[in-house]
Amino acid sequence: MKKITAKPRPILTPQLVQMLATYNPDGSVDVMNAAWGGQLDADVIILSLSADHKTVENLRRTGCFTLGIPSSKDVIDADFVGLVSANDDPNKFEKTDWHASKSAVIDAPVIDELPMTFECKVLRYIDEDELGFYVIARVVDILFNEDILNDKGQPDVNRMDLLLFSPIDASYRKMSDIVAPAFRCGAAKKGK
Ligand SMILES: Cc1cc2nc3c(=O)[nH]c(=O)nc-3n(C[C@H](O)[C@H](O)[C@H](O)COP(=O)(O)O)c2cc1C
Repeated sequence: MKKITAKPRPILTPQLVQMLATYNPDGSVDVMNAAWGGQLDADVIILSLSADHKTVENLRRTGCFTLGIPSSKDVIDADFVGLVSANDDPNKFEKTDWHASKSAVIDAPVIDELPMTFECKVLRYIDEDELGFYVIARVVDILFNEDILNDKGQPDVNRMDLLLFSPIDASYRKMSDIVAPAFRCGAAKKGK
């Protein structure tokens, strides 16, 4: 197949839609959309953040955040919190349909409606400059809403109805069907 080349641009697709929630200095909630990031280790994640976000000021003060993973029905609020900064609109969170309660283990809000939430503590910031940095964080706990558990008490991806971000065409999408079981379907080729 003939390939065409292109300059680097942020189009690694698909990405998870992630809601990064922190406390403002007055105890109100801020949340932003943070697609650039992922799992680094069993209990370590990384995010790429621009320096001018209110979230960044909050992170530097508390050292804690939650990363809530929305479902497709959260799409409007997920996009909204990625378009508006709490620096410009301090009532940003109140304009969403979400509610928050304080995490039992860290100084950060948990958004009740989001089916899966990672409770995180900042380990370190790397490659800091005036534009931003990468934050490496320890996941200290994961919360699942009961309504996405299967009858064995395990999280069920279908019930989560996860929202994905497709940067190639700037769209939000749903996760689709299972193609094959991971760590198993390739085994038939072993030893051939
Ligand atoms: C789909 C989407 C993905 C985004 N991903 C990131 C990201 O990974 N890192 C980042 O710094 N900003 C990202 N943003 C932008 C922030 O969410 C946005 O600037 C937000 O208003 C910051 O809010 P705050 O100032 O209240 O913290 C994204 C926005 C959208 C819509």
